[in-house]
Amino acid sequence: MTRHLRSDVDLNPQEYLRVLDLAQQLKRHPEHYRDKLKGRSIAVIFSKQSTRTRVSFEVGIWQMGGQPLILTSSGSTGMQMGRGESTHDTAKVMARYVDAIAIRTFGQNEVDELAKHAGIPIVNALTDLYHPCQALADTLTLRERFGETRGLKLVYVGAGNNVAHSLMLAGPRAGYDVVVACPREVPPRPRVLKRAQEDAKRFKTRVRVERDVHKAVKGAHAIYTDTWVSMGQDSEADALRQKLQDYQVNAALMEEARPDAIFLHCLPAHRGEEVLDEVMDGRWSAVFDQAENRLHVQKALLLLLLGIESWS
Ligand code: CP
Ligand code: NVA
Repeated sequence: MTRHLRSDVDLNPQEYLRVLDLAQQLKRHPEHYRDKLKGRSIAVIFSKQSTRTRVSFEVGIWQMGGQPLILTSSGSTGMQMGRGESTHDTAKVMARYVDAIAIRTFGQNEVDELAKHAGIPIVNALTDLYHPCQALADTLTLRERFGETRGLKLVYVGAGNNVAHSLMLAGPRAGYDVVVACPREVPPRPRVLKRAQEDAKRFKTRVRVERDVHKAVKGAHAIYTDTWVSMGQDSEADALRQKLQDYQVNAALMEEARPDAIFLHCLPAHRGEEVLDEVMDGRWSAVFDQAENRLHVQKALLLLLLGIESWS
């Protein structure tokens, strides 16, 4: 069966931890994995901008001896997708050339369609709904800082967006509780919340939404935030900034969490909006470890999805 990472739910808790274990091995001994992708080509397609995702996939594939193909979906040097070639046909054609595809796009349906028709592993490199590679890197960062993830409390402060959704699904898989502190007008999608809470019950963790950010961060091991305006939301930018202004992460808020709490952000950060310099550059900040960990988790993920390393 072809394996994918369409969203976080494609991994069960054992598999989720396996990705993290392998990522830690890869981080410690990258030289042991130097030729693992020899002779393989992996396409990474972008319909939205990127720094971390693009560079970490390209470098990671190269470090394991593979060929990364970085493609844009539109523009004069972009793929025919940008001129209307169907996802179905694109999937069928790409599968004749490459061994796996990672894609960053708008609609989750594009990722699901590719997975349905390509017959090769498809990785969600961010959609409007999920950012599972990010949540893997975030969870690895939590593990590094606290030794293990079971029993931790992560509080996401901000808009109920793709990053929040993936964290809500990652928590139950890695054993930590997730609280989303957001205004009433910008909640996570009810369907995602329902799935996250079902998973939380099954895997003995908790996922909940809280309006009061001060109440939410009590006892938190990690406070996480993301941009108030995600890619593709430019027309709503002013309204979102208005609604989210009480949800800024500053030093005073960090002081309300546990004394050993860390600060996480998927980046890019909008300093002065969702977070202040005093936090980004302060003692709590683990944001650059997080960014580095994208590299290690994605390398691990590709080896597992391609069946080069085993899941157990
Ligand atoms: N965090 C993240 O996905 O960053 P990029 O948008 O730079 O890829
Ligand atoms: N929520 C942000 C994440 C960027 C990595 C966005 O979708 O733009």
